[in-house]
Amino acid sequence: MISAGKELKKAVKERYAIGHFNIFNLETFQAVVNASNRTKMPVFMGTSNKTLDYAGVSNILGLYNSLPKTSKVILHLDHGSYENAKKCIRLGYPSVMFDGSSMPLNKNIKLTKKLVSMGNKKGVFVEGEVGILSADGLTNPSDAKVFVEKTGVDSLAVSIGNQHGYYKYMPVLDFQRLMDIRKVVNVPIVLHGASGLIESDIKTAIMYGVAKINIDTELRWNFTNSVSSYLSEHAPSKLNKDSFDARNYLGIARSSVEGKVFDFIRLFQR
Ligand code: G3H
Ligand code: 13P
Ligand code: ZN
Repeated sequence: MISAGKELKKAVKERYAIGHFNIFNLETFQAVVNASNRTKMPVFMGTSNKTLDYAGVSNILGLYNSLPKTSKVILHLDHGSYENAKKCIRLGYPSVMFDGSSMPLNKNIKLTKKLVSMGNKKGVFVEGEVGILSADGLTNPSDAKVFVEKTGVDSLAVSIGNQHGYYKYMPVLDFQRLMDIRKVVNVPIVLHGASGLIESDIKTAIMYGVAKINIDTELRWNFTNSVSSYLSEHAPSKLNKDSFDARNYLGIARSSVEGKVFDFIRLFQR
């Protein structure tokens, strides 16, 4: 299995980014694995608190642990609660994010630091976040510096105008802020909420030191849209067994997500 820390260091040095793709079921798991295999690139496979509840952490780990040793997929807890971060570290996740961004900075530092110390004992990579993903929650560079120094966190998610979900209006990313953070923080920077950003902004963010880029919404949209298109063209009928074989439309949805992941991995290259 590959090391998240080493891969991200290499990405920072060579100025490309590693994709993080959220999954929620078997098909999306396979889509991410297949795209990583096809591109021979490392990827983070994001599992949120909600996905842990939905799919079951032992099922997710069972699938992940069945991958061959040559796999470049890094299983990751995305926006984890403190309890889930602890649990995932204990159960053998190679990488976790603790999201204490909505807490007062001191509390975020205190809890992240505890998790970093737990993670260090087991070689688990820990991502933290400072700043809230909204226009009025932009990351303050001096907070970021203090946070990284005090916690010893392995990577830092930042808010520079990026937000989760599709954008109503194209955001103006604050690249000056990103550069100011970069100057005072020596760990890889993570850009969340990358669905819907224009390609040139993604390229600029990578140039200024973003080494991990998170995508969820675009994959969910493609998954759901594939199923919806299929079913609107093939209405299920009790007289036609094939018409209600879920593998038909789930297979199409899986290919669609795999294609998207493949394209993003390529986009994040130099
Ligand atoms: O950034 C967060 C992800 O989009 C997770 O979303 O909590 O609905 O799984 P979720
Ligand atoms: P989007 O859903 O906007 O792609 O963001 C994904 C993300 O940040 C996951 O942590
Ligand atoms: Zn996110």
